[in-house]
Amino acid sequence: MELQNVVLLGRTFEEYCTYFQLTEENLRSSRILDLGAGLSSFCAEATAHGYHVTAADPVYRLSKDEIARKSDEDLKEVLRQLPDVAHKYKWDFYGDPAGLAHHRETARLNFLKDYGSLPNHYVCASLPETPFADREFSIVLVSYFLFLYDDLLSYEFHKRSVLEAARIAQKEVRIYPLANLRAEKSVFVEQLKDDPDCAGLRFDLLRSDFEFVKNSNELLILRRA
Ligand SMILES: C[S@@+](CC[C@H](N)C(=O)[O-])C[C@H]1O[C@@H](n2cnc3c(N)ncnc32)[C@H](O)[C@@H]1O
Repeated sequence: MELQNVVLLGRTFEEYCTYFQLTEENLRSSRILDLGAGLSSFCAEATAHGYHVTAADPVYRLSKDEIARKSDEDLKEVLRQLPDVAHKYKWDFYGDPAGLAHHRETARLNFLKDYGSLPNHYVCASLPETPFADREFSIVLVSYFLFLYDDLLSYEFHKRSVLEAARIAQKEVRIYPLANLRAEKSVFVEQLKDDPDCAGLRFDLLRSDFEFVKNSNELLILRRA
């Protein structure tokens, strides 16, 4: 499944490393999957640094031109709406809307430059069911997808998605943010922790210095219990 209301915007390597708290050791020694990667330039930039990263997203069924057009429209629309919702955000990292626009445009352009250049790096795949093998990646990252859209994606979808991400991760799954678009921590986090179907998973919540959407200063790390 793919949500039409999910915007096609991406974050940079610097943003990912900051809120996922990725160390040089994590990056050097891991095969990483960016799940729901969209227009993020994490895969492109990490590959340029010599790290092993795969990006997966349903939007990769589209051509580069189609993605370029839609993401350009989405970026303009988000920036147009920003003044109305600016109170839901903290500006320590980006400074102001121009700083945010700069990060989004940098990610978009670096992604587009790389997209399609290395055939196995961008895989068309969707949660809650991916084509990857059990424990295929050491670390699976999910950035700005799960929990953020908890009004559009059901609890069942979230449960199946975290179990799927855990299935394909050998070491751990990192999910950020845990806050939704109303800038509240998603109630699904605690519900999943208490769900007997997730009893095989350990939930660790780490405090994060990064907070853009208000109440998004936590990172979830899932490991096999
Ligand atoms: C807000 S963007 C986040 C992109 C990137 N992870 C980042 O943080 O920059 C959300 C992404 O989720 C993708 N998406 C939509 N439905 C999905 C699904 N069922 N499984 C995985 N990703 C999905 C969208 O195509 C979009 O690229």
